[in-house]
Amino acid sequence: MKQLDLCVIPGDGVGREVIPCAVEVLQCVAGNVRLVEADAGWDCFIRNGNALPDETIHAIETCTAALFGAVSSPSKKVEGYRSPIVQMRQRFDLYANLRPTRELAGADGMRRISGAPVDLLIVRENTQGLYIGREYMRGDEAVAERVITHSASERIAKIAFELANTRARRQLTIVHKANILPVTDGTFRDSARAVGAAFPEVKINELLVDTAAMLLASKPQQFDVIVTTNLFGDILSDVASVWGGGMGVAPALNIGQGVAIAEPVHGSAPDIAGKDIANPSGAILSAALLLRYHWHMPDEADRVERAVYAAIDQGVRTADIGGQASTRDLADKILSLL
Ligand code: NAI
Ligand code: MG
Repeated sequence: MKQLDLCVIPGDGVGREVIPCAVEVLQCVAGNVRLVEADAGWDCFIRNGNALPDETIHAIETCTAALFGAVSSPSKKVEGYRSPIVQMRQRFDLYANLRPTRELAGADGMRRISGAPVDLLIVRENTQGLYIGREYMRGDEAVAERVITHSASERIAKIAFELANTRARRQLTIVHKANILPVTDGTFRDSARAVGAAFPEVKINELLVDTAAMLLASKPQQFDVIVTTNLFGDILSDVASVWGGGMGVAPALNIGQGVAIAEPVHGSAPDIAGKDIANPSGAILSAALLLRYHWHMPDEADRVERAVYAAIDQGVRTADIGGQASTRDLADKILSLL
């Protein structure tokens, strides 16, 4: 069995509870996993004055794969602090963020939507838009620059079309706001459309972001793959995550030029941290994304995903998805199914 090198960065809060569960699952299905533990986040910043130490960057670089929990970030500017996840995305040019949502039935076993279950993938541009961090005051004006390039739009669209082409429905929706932002979002839309010409089998739709948000809340099953800019992708994937069981279940994978960082969509959840009640599913499903898209082990990825959904379907649910199981209970159930 090939050796998988994995940099493990639990971070802050519930990250330290859910990431160990995901590591156990990887060890269970993939066997030979070499772990390199690394530090990042707010506690790390308080201890070392740096939220993303050089050793951590080096460990990610040498492993090429990382599993990242979550970090606490202050919502006021703190001198010297920058969100490590945003830094990592830029440092390793992790330009694509994959955020799948699969419908999860309620605790009563009832589905909330009739017809085909929700099964969608949001492909979020990960390096540009409002997240470039160019914010400043100009007299009375608080300004944030929103940068979109043709080349970055093209490469994110290419990944999205490639992924859409591997899925049964082969359908891709380009989400933008080009009616209000014709220069920036016009660039994004036109670049994505041009890439589509090379994928004749993929059916292309286009939606304005507000309409997309409404449809994700009302008719989510109509979506297959969505490609969009950074902030829109961040918000829309949180909306979509509701159908998949919410924040505790939603997984994500950051990919780019060789390095991949998997991370549950949720944050450090200070309200529930340290109580052994956080849902480990988001972290475990993120590990499955590493198996599928970075290590090219689709069978193992399928096994992990099946085990997570089977454990939940059999009623082992943490509080966020309507049960009373602990983090450990759900992780143990998933491991026993594997
Ligand atoms: P959050 O995602 O930490 O929590 C939002 C809600 O979801 C809370 O009610 C929480 O209890 C619940 N939740 C989150 N993870 C869960 C899990 N595994 N199981 C069950 N319930 C879960 O977002 P919030 O509260 O806005 O932010 C808290 C901190 O996390 C902030 O410092 C924020 O900056 C940071 N954050 C970090 C992210 C990252 O590291 N990628 C992403 C989002 C927020
Ligand atoms: Mg978010």
